[in-house]
Amino acid sequence: MQWFAKAPSNIALIKYMGKKDSLTNVPNNPSLSYTLNHLVSSVRLETYDGEIDCWKPLSGTFNLSPAAQMRYLKHLAYLKAHYQYSGAFIVYSDNNFPHGNGLASSASSFAALTQCAVLALSELTNTPMISIEEQANLARQGSGSACRSLFSPWAYWDENGVKSIDIDYHSFIHQVVMISSAEKEVSSSEAHKRIHTSHLYAARAEQATNHLNALLTAFKTKDWFRAYQICWQEFNDMHQLFATSTPPFAYITDKSRQLLQRIQTDWENNGDGPLVTMDAGPNIHLLYRMDQEAMANQIKRDLLISSYHVV
Ligand code: PMV
Repeated sequence: MQWFAKAPSNIALIKYMGKKDSLTNVPNNPSLSYTLNHLVSSVRLETYDGEIDCWKPLSGTFNLSPAAQMRYLKHLAYLKAHYQYSGAFIVYSDNNFPHGNGLASSASSFAALTQCAVLALSELTNTPMISIEEQANLARQGSGSACRSLFSPWAYWDENGVKSIDIDYHSFIHQVVMISSAEKEVSSSEAHKRIHTSHLYAARAEQATNHLNALLTAFKTKDWFRAYQICWQEFNDMHQLFATSTPPFAYITDKSRQLLQRIQTDWENNGDGPLVTMDAGPNIHLLYRMDQEAMANQIKRDLLISSYHVV
């Protein structure tokens, strides 16, 4: 028997960074993400006669490191235990975005695995299908940010759960400027732990909540410049937590800084531009309103000429 599911990635404008409970991934602060429906992970699950679960690529070119495979199978084991099912599966997975290019894929891959396993395990154990909210809670166990990938176009997540949230901007043009495709030296799981040592951490939850409220107001009043300022402040605050941890760590590189400077200057010169954000990595996400398509194309052309890789 086999089952198939797909799930998109998401980019947080208000970042989840820091956990109240690291066993169940309860976030320390609220986060808000925009769902990236064009960046998708796919999973196929097949029952088989073996003793243990194993992972295989869904397409020939895709690969997961042994450590990533183990983390993926551990989440499947968690889901099987939840449904009290002990049979074995072969997990096939891949992403539709180039692998190994530094684009975070844990949100989409853990969301897709959870949705596929819920389909399979409900059928195999004759259990009624659970709600999307319950599926999101299960996905959260694999990777916190994965729970937001089950809602579109916007997801709001706090310690009480995750839900869809209505924001007047339903669709953006999204670009990621690739600064580096190298494997991260500090994983986001490690980052969540280490930032507890920063003197800025005590104020982080309040600061993120203030940013969230200010961003929702900026979206409501269509104050795009204010939205840009808040997003900018928010990712910088997260990266400041990294810089002030013990030991400190950084994802922003000189090349990231140069590009950020250039986008800032463009904004100053034109009085308009994209929202800018960065995750726990060196790459830069740009979000344009749909009426900024000509600008998005122009910036993409300029960046390609300057030898940046834009996804
Ligand atoms: O889902 P995790 O544990 O990999 O955490 C990711 C956190 C960030 O991507 C840095 C921010 C976010 O809210 O997505």
